[in-house]
Amino acid sequence: MTKIALTGIKPTGIPHIGNFIGAIKPALKLTETCEARYFIADYHALNSTKDPDEIRRMTIEVAAAWLACGLDPAKVLFYKQSGVPETFELLTILLAFTPKGLMNRAHAYKAMLQTNSEAGRDPDDGVNMGLYTYPVLMAADILLFDTDFVPVGNDQFQHVEMAVDIAQSFNFVYGQEAFTLPQPLATERTRTLLGLDGRKMSKSYGNTIPLFAPEKELRKLVMKIVTNSQTIDEPKDPDTCNVFSIYQSFASEEQIKSLRERYLAGGLGWGHAKQELFEVMNATLTPLRETYDRLIRDPGYIQTVLQEGSDKAREIASAKIRQLRGIVGID
Ligand code: TRP
Repeated sequence: MTKIALTGIKPTGIPHIGNFIGAIKPALKLTETCEARYFIADYHALNSTKDPDEIRRMTIEVAAAWLACGLDPAKVLFYKQSGVPETFELLTILLAFTPKGLMNRAHAYKAMLQTNSEAGRDPDDGVNMGLYTYPVLMAADILLFDTDFVPVGNDQFQHVEMAVDIAQSFNFVYGQEAFTLPQPLATERTRTLLGLDGRKMSKSYGNTIPLFAPEKELRKLVMKIVTNSQTIDEPKDPDTCNVFSIYQSFASEEQIKSLRERYLAGGLGWGHAKQELFEVMNATLTPLRETYDRLIRDPGYIQTVLQEGSDKAREIASAKIRQLRGIVGID
């Protein structure tokens, strides 16, 4: 039987190339072998963003970005979490199977407590119940669709493991395999993509290259990547070089091999290396950027795609909820 892969995409606006290499590409690759169900996690965003226009805009932008990167809505069930209200009914069911202590152990929540206490604030300052129970809503997203695999970054593994705990406790109480037990799949490569300053590429460090940056801006950003002060003639180590690290994510095997040799031989200046990086990136990203620019001018189309996906997802979800209601005796 074809396995089901599901993941949630937080509506955080236009992705950067770290997201593209670390999350989008591997998730799209998985759609070749699995039945994929990918959704925009818009209600999750409400925990942190209270600006309605921002939620609307970011939902459209992130959906357009995934479509531009090649997500085919004819093959992938592509929907909005809010378009499947059964999720929130399942959330209510799952809350009754979630020990409070499990939520206390969530890394993200614990990090917030620590930040607060270090700042001398009340430990729960700024923590709403949506954030606190975030892993249960995420479990509902996953368990509603009989998910086998959840492609996510390493920071989300604990959440998927919590979904397994909750599912097991439900299955145990009713003595049946009501829920499929999901398995997290690492999407980030062991070597995370580095940003302009050599730290991990992340919005919070302000060191990102936006995925759809216009050609001129892309060139400017690539030229800004921090390198060491070696002269042109010196041989250079590709394996500790940020420029080379990004290059590997965009170039072909032969291109990588050739640039590696030229690094080791010496005579290749940083300006040249960056120019080559810019060229491979631009070749990959130009068609994506053009598709994105076209899609973003037609938000109505994106809404329709998400609506149609949500309608189909709802059919699957409502059958599951009917089954679960029967199991718990609410029917
Ligand atoms: N929490 C995930 C993130 O921060 C997004 C998400 C929400 C998700 N629901 C999910 C991921 C269900 C996988 C499965 O990226």
